[in-house]
Amino acid sequence: MNAPVSPDVLLSVRHLDKFYGLNKAAARKMLKKGAGKDEILKRTGVTIAVNGVSFDVERGKIFALIGLSGSGKSTVVRCVNMLQRPTAGEILFDGRDVAQMPRDELRELRRTKVAMVFQGFGLMSHRDVLDNVAYGLDVRAPFGGFLHRPWRADRVDRAAEMIELVGLKGWERKPIDSLSGGMKQRVGIARALCCDPDLLLMDEPFSALDPLARRDIQFELLSIQKELGKTIVFITHDINEAFKMGDTVGIMRDGRIEQLGTPADLVLTPANDYVRDFVQSVNKTKFLSVKHVMVSPSCLIRDSADPLTAIREMGENDVSTAYVIGRGMEFMGVVTLNAALRARRENMSSVSSLVTREAPTVGQDVLIGDIIETATDTPFPLAVLNGKGHLEGIVSRAAILSCLS
Ligand SMILES: Nc1ncnc2c1ncn2[C@@H]1O[C@H](COP(=O)(O)OP(=O)(O)O)[C@@H](O)[C@H]1O
Ligand SMILES: [Mg+2]
Repeated sequence: MNAPVSPDVLLSVRHLDKFYGLNKAAARKMLKKGAGKDEILKRTGVTIAVNGVSFDVERGKIFALIGLSGSGKSTVVRCVNMLQRPTAGEILFDGRDVAQMPRDELRELRRTKVAMVFQGFGLMSHRDVLDNVAYGLDVRAPFGGFLHRPWRADRVDRAAEMIELVGLKGWERKPIDSLSGGMKQRVGIARALCCDPDLLLMDEPFSALDPLARRDIQFELLSIQKELGKTIVFITHDINEAFKMGDTVGIMRDGRIEQLGTPADLVLTPANDYVRDFVQSVNKTKFLSVKHVMVSPSCLIRDSADPLTAIREMGENDVSTAYVIGRGMEFMGVVTLNAALRARRENMSSVSSLVTREAPTVGQDVLIGDIIETATDTPFPLAVLNGKGHLEGIVSRAAILSCLS
């Protein structure tokens, strides 16, 4: 329970429970006996909102929490900044349990270390863009900031910098009401970033946006995150968004985390049918890479091989392309069955002159989405090479197309 937190971890949530309602002891008893959430609510009036949730968020990484409505996502983030007090468990921020923090430390945490971005924007419509962004600093400044001259200049500079960062330069003095939903959410992000927090908590920040605005702002957030290296807990109910944003993803159901892992983990080794169904519809080309779908080449020959050997090898393996390697295992290219048959007719001694040297090659870490076109244009599986130019595997068109579903 009290294992030390790795220095790489900014936020460690451990065995978190949050029950809403009075008769928590009775609810816990029923939970121990294996009763479900609905039954417990009916019998005790207690909602099991979060039940034994544990996860770590590494510094500079995005942790995405996904689940259906009511699965407990918002409650988890509300516990992280103590808008809700946990029923049990620990929430360690930089190694300190937020539930044990004295009031002034907690206030400092909320003001300067943890910022929140909601779906409903939470902006003040009577203030313009700049003032909304600077709001976070006003709260932080001594005596409200407005009256304090050095603070004021500082505040405008900082806010303007954040506004530029989210792509709203030129909009500083525009009223909030004149902005589109996507732009309002950019203001929300700029405001959250203004006091340079260590952790951003984002609760379905983009759910209200139309698909195009949403795609833009997802991209924007990812580039900001890359530039500033912020740690983010990102909540969503959209699996494609979770997989696009999250380095690690947790799938929640009825207050529990069904599985934690990278998008590739969840797709390739789902822990149960629920996870499998959940991730089934996702576009895998955006996060699966070549290494996830490559296989060993079934027909490998040396460049010194004679045409008959090449033909025999291809015949035995029931393929029409052989992958040719040189003395040092380096990839030379491919030989097709047709070329080998022709060479045999012409009595050539080796296949080396037949090798198609312009056969396209790919690296292991290239995303499937980035090689669809090449694979479609190439009549044989692509060769996968490592940094030394050695053949690591091959990736077939069928394997690539299966990621599209
Ligand atoms: N303040 C509250 N009082 C009582 N029940 C709540 C409260 N907030 C959330 N719940 C209940 O807790 C469960 C989890 O809710 P929530 O964390 O909002 O889920 P999500 O964000 O995944 O939609 C739901 O059953 C919800 O009805
Ligand atoms: Mg919610």
